[in-house]
Amino acid sequence: MVITTRDKPSKTQKQKFTPPSKPTIIAFLSQKGGVGKTTTATHARDWFEQFGTVGFVDADAQRSSSKWLSAISQDIEYTVMGEARTLLKELPNVKEKFDYVIVDAPGSMEDVSRAILSRCDIVIIPCQTSQLDLDSNDETIEMVEVAQDIRGGLPKAALFFNRAEEGTILLREALEAASRDNIRGSVFPLDTVIHQRQCIMDVPGQQTTAIREARRLGEIRRQKNSNKKRQTYTPIEIARNEYCELFEEITRIIND
Ligand SMILES: Nc1ncnc2c1ncn2[C@@H]1O[C@H](COP(=O)(O)OP(=O)(O)OP(=O)(O)O)[C@@H](O)[C@H]1O
Ligand SMILES: [Mg+2]
Repeated sequence: MVITTRDKPSKTQKQKFTPPSKPTIIAFLSQKGGVGKTTTATHARDWFEQFGTVGFVDADAQRSSSKWLSAISQDIEYTVMGEARTLLKELPNVKEKFDYVIVDAPGSMEDVSRAILSRCDIVIIPCQTSQLDLDSNDETIEMVEVAQDIRGGLPKAALFFNRAEEGTILLREALEAASRDNIRGSVFPLDTVIHQRQCIMDVPGQQTTAIREARRLGEIRRQKNSNKKRQTYTPIEIARNEYCELFEEITRIIND
C-alpha cells in the first residue's frame, strides 16, 4: 500500500481515537545506528500495554532493549532473536500469543532487517533531522519498498523525527523535506516530533521509561491531594505526551 500525504489527517482535524487493531507486529527499524529505535520501541511497549497483551522481540545482538526491560521489571516478557532465520520462523508464532508485538531492530544487519520487514505489519523508522541523516534513510526505505513489492504493499511504513532540537530551522526544513518529497511515497511522514530531551536519555539509567515515570509522579501528586490545576508540565510529562501523541498517530495508520 502506498500512503500519500493527501490521505494524511491534518493535525487540527479532531479524530475519535480507536485503539490499535490486533494482532499487530510493530517494528522499529533503521539501518542507521543510534537514531532511537530502542528508545522508541521500549516506550511503545509501555504504551500499547493499555490496550492488550504485548510481546517484545529484541532483534539486536547488543541486547540494549532487553537489558533495559529486565531492569525495569522482571515481569516484563521479551524474547531475544538475533538471527534472520529465527525471526522469519518465530515472529508469526509470537504474533499468535500476543495482541501486539514490538520489534526492536538492530542498527545494521541487513538480513535481520529484511526478515523483520517480511513479517511485520507496520515499520516505524526513527530519523534525525540533519541532511546526512535524511540521506542515510535511502537504504532503509529501499529495503522497505522491496518488502512492500513482494508483500503486496505490506508492511505499512512511517517515519518520524527523533532527537530534534525544538524550533530550529533544521527541524522545519526536515519536516518540509519529508512532506514535500513524501519520502518517495512508500513511507508515511508522521507529524509528531520527539524532541531531544535529557530526561529521555536518563530514563534507562533510572530503570524506567518516560511513560512510567510520568505516571509514577502523577500518582504521588494525587496521593498528596495536590489537585490544583497546574499551568506547566514537567519535562518528563512533556516527553510522555510526545510519545503518546506519536503512538496515537501510529495507531491511526495501523487502523487505516
Ligand atoms: N528523544 C531523545 N532525546 C534524547 N536522547 C535520545 C532520544 N532518543 C534517543 N536518545 C538517546 O540516543 C541514543 C541512541 O538511542 P537508541 O539506543 O534508542 O538508538 P538505536 O537506534 O536503538 O541505536 P542502535 O542502532 O545502536 O541500536 C541513546 O543514548 C538514547 O538515550
Ligand atoms: Mg538499539
